[in-house]
Amino acid sequence: MKEQQIKFYYKNVTESVLGGEHGISEKQFAALAAKTEPLIEQLNAQRKAGKTRYRDLPYQTDTVKAVKAVAAQVKWCENFVVLGIGGSALGNIALQTAMNPFMYNLDDKQRKGCPRLFVFDNVDPLQLSSFLSWLSDNLDKTVFNVISKSGRTAETAAQFLTICQMLEEKLGKDSLKKHIIATTDSQQGTLRKTADAFGLTTLQVPDGVGGRFSVLSPVGLLSAAVCGIDIDRLLAGAAEMDKKVSQQTFYKNPAAVNAAINWHYYNRGKKISVMMSYSYALKDFADWYRQLWAESLGKAKDLSGKEIFVGPTPVKALGATDQHSQVQLYREGPNDKLFTFLAVEDFGVDVKIGAAPDIAPELDYLSNQDMSRLLNSERAGTEYALLASKRPCLTIAFEKICPYTIGQFIYLLETSTSIAAMLFDINAYDQPAVELGKEATFALMGQSDYAALAEKIKPFAQINDSFII
Ligand code: PA5
Repeated sequence: MKEQQIKFYYKNVTESVLGGEHGISEKQFAALAAKTEPLIEQLNAQRKAGKTRYRDLPYQTDTVKAVKAVAAQVKWCENFVVLGIGGSALGNIALQTAMNPFMYNLDDKQRKGCPRLFVFDNVDPLQLSSFLSWLSDNLDKTVFNVISKSGRTAETAAQFLTICQMLEEKLGKDSLKKHIIATTDSQQGTLRKTADAFGLTTLQVPDGVGGRFSVLSPVGLLSAAVCGIDIDRLLAGAAEMDKKVSQQTFYKNPAAVNAAINWHYYNRGKKISVMMSYSYALKDFADWYRQLWAESLGKAKDLSGKEIFVGPTPVKALGATDQHSQVQLYREGPNDKLFTFLAVEDFGVDVKIGAAPDIAPELDYLSNQDMSRLLNSERAGTEYALLASKRPCLTIAFEKICPYTIGQFIYLLETSTSIAAMLFDINAYDQPAVELGKEATFALMGQSDYAALAEKIKPFAQINDSFII
């Protein structure tokens, strides 16, 4: 049986479609190939040297066993709550939206015996108090997966402390062991220390795998497995894509071509990269991609330490919804964007549109048609309109949305990010600019180590009434 695939389609960035000013000519493609092919080789060498550990995640059989064991251990729960942020949450949300039905949390039938899933990646008191109020009546049926590689991320730590206290007060101190799973560094960090002291079950964030590259590790796999997603097929799909993106030949390597096209356009004033999903199920992968692209590629310095301030701005959009919100700008605003459509060939299910009444013959064209045909026509129509305005468009088409194709997609985007970073000559795996804001928060929250910083912040944090209208 032929396995379901994703297809990377790039004709609609070529000169033959867009003309010389906005399209990529054969000569330019040849130059991109010459520039990128050595980088593929370099990336493959880095991988062998253990410098891109995320590349090996599809093959961690022991880890998968450990994840499945923990998933089996918490089978009794009715609610599974992920506490994490950034790379410790976005992949979990994306996997769930992609592979479980829209009404999963509300409909027992659609959940097929799996628990509801909630992912809390914020510290908004309005949102949390509503959730905690519901939770206090359901605590005994709930398992929490606190995910933090460092363990000192303020948002996750705050949620963790709140939940621990709630569990202790309602169910007793011993309940923590039953109700909390910690996913964190194997050796170090605040969460590792705390989890060990509390005797919690733990899973490891593999060494050398950064948050935004960790969805195929226990970070993303546990909630997926608990919610009935086939993680073996997810990893098999990633392994399949690994073969493609390891290929030395530029034109056979979708990650290389994707990265090179993005880099090419960035250097020609198209600094915004819009991922527009024509599938609700894939919409949160646009969010996941936004973090992957932004934190990995937005950098002040190149690898030699020279200031360059680069980074494409990733934007997420959802078709057809955003046709009625963004497409006016996309077509008539500045031609500064590269579009990547996410398309689905076979949705697996369909909805027949109802018949138009006699009084509205102008709606006859919709009568008894498949909803998938309408959505895909909207995608093709929007792409056509963008091309008419000379806007370059890529498409990643899913033959079907399933764990196997989702695994391919994740791996394609992660490797594209690595290659794009090499083209920009930057480090994809750090995020130094995030630190100052974190430290400022520590200071504003009264962490004594940051008292000096708190003083520095004061003039900025104080509201000056003369500027209030
Ligand atoms: O990609 C990253 O490294 C970040 O987005 C982290 O995932 C995020 O800051 C959360 O960090 P941690 O898992 O240490 O709590």
